[in-house]
Amino acid sequence: MTITLTQPDDWHVHVRDGEMLARVIPYTAAQFGRALIMPNLDPPVSTVQQALEYRKTILSALPEGSSFDPKMSLYLTDDTTETEVKAAAQCEHILGFKLYPADTTTNSSSGVTRVSSMMNVFESMARHGVVLQVHGEVADPHVDIFDRESVFIDQILFPLHQELPDLGLVLEHVTTRQGVDFVKATNHFVAGTITPHHLMYNRNEMFRGGIRPHNYCLPVLKRETHRQSLVAAATSGDPSFFLGTDSAPQTRSSKQSACGCAGIFSAHAAIEFYAEIFAGLECINKLENFASHFGADFYQLEKNPGKITLNNKTKHIPESIGKDQGAEASDDDIIPLMAGQTLSWSLLLDS
Ligand code: DOR
Ligand code: ZN
Repeated sequence: MTITLTQPDDWHVHVRDGEMLARVIPYTAAQFGRALIMPNLDPPVSTVQQALEYRKTILSALPEGSSFDPKMSLYLTDDTTETEVKAAAQCEHILGFKLYPADTTTNSSSGVTRVSSMMNVFESMARHGVVLQVHGEVADPHVDIFDRESVFIDQILFPLHQELPDLGLVLEHVTTRQGVDFVKATNHFVAGTITPHHLMYNRNEMFRGGIRPHNYCLPVLKRETHRQSLVAAATSGDPSFFLGTDSAPQTRSSKQSACGCAGIFSAHAAIEFYAEIFAGLECINKLENFASHFGADFYQLEKNPGKITLNNKTKHIPESIGKDQGAEASDDDIIPLMAGQTLSWSLLLDS
């Protein structure tokens, strides 16, 4: 069996910089027409000028002949100005600002310390049609880690939406039933991205037979009931939910450590993971809208002109992705999602 789709987009991905960028960008560029590139570098990408420089670096790391189009999200800080919002609104390569509540995840220490102090900036974003991409968790260490998304929605996101109902909001990497309900209950200015790993796994997968650092990400995997809500949302045909992998490469040594980093790398087989999930539920016909149409519509962009074809030939995932192919395993390896396992879908690229 084969299926052909409009070329999809990844509306949430981390591609890093330097040597890591060179290693990972070919995977995203091989599958997706566009992607929204996350700005949590160190130092963060917080101005239009920095984003355009970072975009150039990404373009120069692409394989020859690639037409991949990186779209940028700027890192919102306490110091972001309305002038920067206006400049972002005028730049076709920039799709919004990423709100990291300070100290919630990787490289978020320059994030926003008080969301309520940013109302002028949010009003300006709403006025100029600039979208706020949201890492939806509270940072408060007293809040149970499994509740941090739902508490954020109750305390911060819902009130913000009520105050500025025409501010474009994307609840990134939705992980809970409450997140799904929030997106469903609000207007068409609000959407949510869903990752492959949150669709595939519940929180048991972090502890299957021992602690599994490569399945640790933020927001952390949740209970099975939440996973089921996400699967229902992604396959429902509701245009408010679309593809965002949150592929976040980390080295083996940074994850296999006494204090391992959050992040799951899925770019090597991103569309195949989603195909596997949708096909398993006998709704592969819902994949194209989720992967290739709804995100473009939300961001008011044309759909990609190209097509991709998937067939149900098996795809074997390597145990690790090294700096140099064929080299010995090393601390710098990336351990990919479903390392050593086999998928029942493979991507064939149409010309
Ligand atoms: O697991 C994650 N990894 N979640 C994030 O929010 C950030 C990301 C990263 O940059 O590694
Ligand atoms: Zn992310």
